[in-house]
Amino acid sequence: MEKILGPASYLVKRQIFFSQRDLELALDDHEKGKGFFLYTGRGPSGPMHIGHIMQFYFTRLLQEKFGTNVYVQVTDDEKYLEAKRNLSYPDTQHWADENILDILATGFHPDKTFIFQDTEFVGHAYPLILKISKRINYSLTKAVFGFTGETNVGMLFYPSIQILPTLFEKRRCLIPAAIDQDPYWRIQRDIAEGLGYHKAAAIHSKFVPPLTGLSDKMSSSKPETAIYLDDDDYTVKSKVNKRAFSGGRATVEEHRRLGGDPDIDVPFQWLYMFFEPNQHKLDKIRDDYKSGRLLTGELKEILVAKITGFLKEHRKKREEARNHVSEFKHSGTLARKMWETDFEKL
Ligand code: TYM
Repeated sequence: MEKILGPASYLVKRQIFFSQRDLELALDDHEKGKGFFLYTGRGPSGPMHIGHIMQFYFTRLLQEKFGTNVYVQVTDDEKYLEAKRNLSYPDTQHWADENILDILATGFHPDKTFIFQDTEFVGHAYPLILKISKRINYSLTKAVFGFTGETNVGMLFYPSIQILPTLFEKRRCLIPAAIDQDPYWRIQRDIAEGLGYHKAAAIHSKFVPPLTGLSDKMSSSKPETAIYLDDDDYTVKSKVNKRAFSGGRATVEEHRRLGGDPDIDVPFQWLYMFFEPNQHKLDKIRDDYKSGRLLTGELKEILVAKITGFLKEHRKKREEARNHVSEFKHSGTLARKMWETDFEKL
């Protein structure tokens, strides 16, 4: 993977993508000419943050390097059903439209990528969803996801829908995602071969930590914990400066004398996980910070410049993507094929 990923190999070298299942089988299939396909997704519950978009940049890169098809599932159904979200149906449609632009901004190939909203597409695939759902019993989903008597029945059924795209081709499916999505793939691996398909392969990333500290999760209900793709430069600067958890010392004098701790410093961790691919530059920042040469404010400034530069480029590509959504959803080669597929026969 390191060889293939080239300049982005830092994502595996630094163990941001740190775990895998059957990745070697997918790579073997590629070498033997059988190939594999990629599948990933997004639950449109609000604006996307840096952690979400990292998955799509990584998936897009794999598509480019391996020349594979990519299927992107946008689970408007899941986010409508999740009671804690309190989202109306129109809310989920709005966020699906917005999130799709962010996803397309990462540069997927229009003829090799199919992006679909569940509420629009999965009715078409219902015969295959039935086959999946018949093999998943109540005790299993309850044990895997911790459902209770209060969970609505839509959520009980939903895992069949997230498993569906792993069966879009008879080839092996490789799924890049953060580790939180793995329970679905564990169920998939129990049932796929019985249905005549491959067990899904996966490559898992860690979570990009919230700005506010290494424990906890970035959360839409706490905007200060994350940088969203629609945050303007002022917001980025003020979130990083005011809210980012620092491993620096209380005073400049103390910091110069004792140095900072990059291991708990979120701005450093964000550079490590995504924003500073260059190992030499990163090592220098770490050394300077530890020795006290680099101050907390200066480290934060480095991160702010990286994020605002990234977002500026992202916003530009997002605007360009506006005119191409229908290719990815309907008229591109792969999209057309998916709409023409007869799922009764699969
Ligand atoms: P969602 O919308 O919660 O997350 C979208 C993708 O982002 C990953 N992710 C993160 N990655 C790094 N750092 C973080 N802090 C972080 N938070 C979330 C998620 O693991 C995911 O890869 N049920 C799914 C939608 C879905 C899906 C899929 C995701 C449907 N099919 C196939 C991945 C693969 C969801 O709600 O994702």
